[in-house]
Amino acid sequence: MGLALAETLLEHGHPTTVWNRTPEKANSLVTKGVHRAGTVAEAVSASPVTIVCLKDYETMYAVLDTAGDALKDRALVNLNSGTPNEAHAAVGWATERGAAYMDGAIMVPPPLVGHPDSVFLYSGSQDVFDEHRATLAGMGDPRYLGSDPSLAVLYNAALLDMMYATMNGFLHATALVGSANVSAVTFADLALNWFMPSVVDSTLTEQAPDLDKGNYPGDVGTMEMNLNALEHITRTCVEQGIHSEQPRLMKAIAEQAIAEGSSGKNYLAVLEVFKKATPPS
Ligand SMILES: NC(=O)c1ccc[n+]([C@@H]2O[C@H](COP(=O)([O-])OP(=O)(O)OC[C@H]3O[C@@H](n4cnc5c(N)ncnc54)[C@H](OP(=O)(O)O)[C@@H]3O)[C@@H](O)[C@H]2O)c1
Repeated sequence: MGLALAETLLEHGHPTTVWNRTPEKANSLVTKGVHRAGTVAEAVSASPVTIVCLKDYETMYAVLDTAGDALKDRALVNLNSGTPNEAHAAVGWATERGAAYMDGAIMVPPPLVGHPDSVFLYSGSQDVFDEHRATLAGMGDPRYLGSDPSLAVLYNAALLDMMYATMNGFLHATALVGSANVSAVTFADLALNWFMPSVVDSTLTEQAPDLDKGNYPGDVGTMEMNLNALEHITRTCVEQGIHSEQPRLMKAIAEQAIAEGSSGKNYLAVLEVFKKATPPS
């Protein structure tokens, strides 16, 4: 990811200095005009803003603590993924060193870095965001989420949570129709080109205001009706000889919603189950 970020910054006309633990990984950048710093302190001192994209927060601390006083009065933008508590702790760490800190998260893979519609999430210091917005915009579409520094990594976790659940949903459904020799290409046309945008996406977008109100009217379909569907899906998976844990888990969640008072409400009332921590087993 670091290579993609540095290359994009250079392409947008920013004089760019890089440092990486394994320096030779920057060879291709150096031939294009990027300066390779010999030390972390040199890299931090070279520019008004330092963009960090390492494995995790611990790695950022280990690397930047070698920069000593060079961090003082500098702006740091950290793009590694992590947890909200880690993002909060990073603010304290940066403040102790005199640096202004903004957290961030990259929502695209390296080949999409630099595209104007590739979203980069930021949260924390608004001063850092405002001052360096033009630089950040070269890497992608910069979205400032607010002064709470944990928001970027929280959104990142939420979007990836949704991505894995959605991909698993499609892959599981593909295995299910595949049990009758239907190809993924054939299924994708109906599932992804019609069902997702026309049924799933539009329903969720339309009902989002009700989620905020905790309003789950069951007049066009109740939790019981959905539990019935999940029972049929589970039995179909068993009959067709494919993995059945995913529908079993969804069925258990709907049963819990009913047990906790969502009988007669629509399926989106499972949100109330998701809002609570899972009790220790
Ligand atoms: N790749 C993606 O698709 C993607 C997308 C969005 C967000 N991200 C996030 O971006 C961050 C970096 O991801 P990546 O894909 O660039 O991972 P990566 O290719 O594994 O690179 C990890 C970076 O951390 C450095 N590093 C690891 N351990 C270190 C240590 N002990 N001391 C010093 N440096 C160390 C590595 O240095 P060396 O080169 O010396 O090993 C390398 O620069 C992650 O937090 C990831 O979640 C990645």
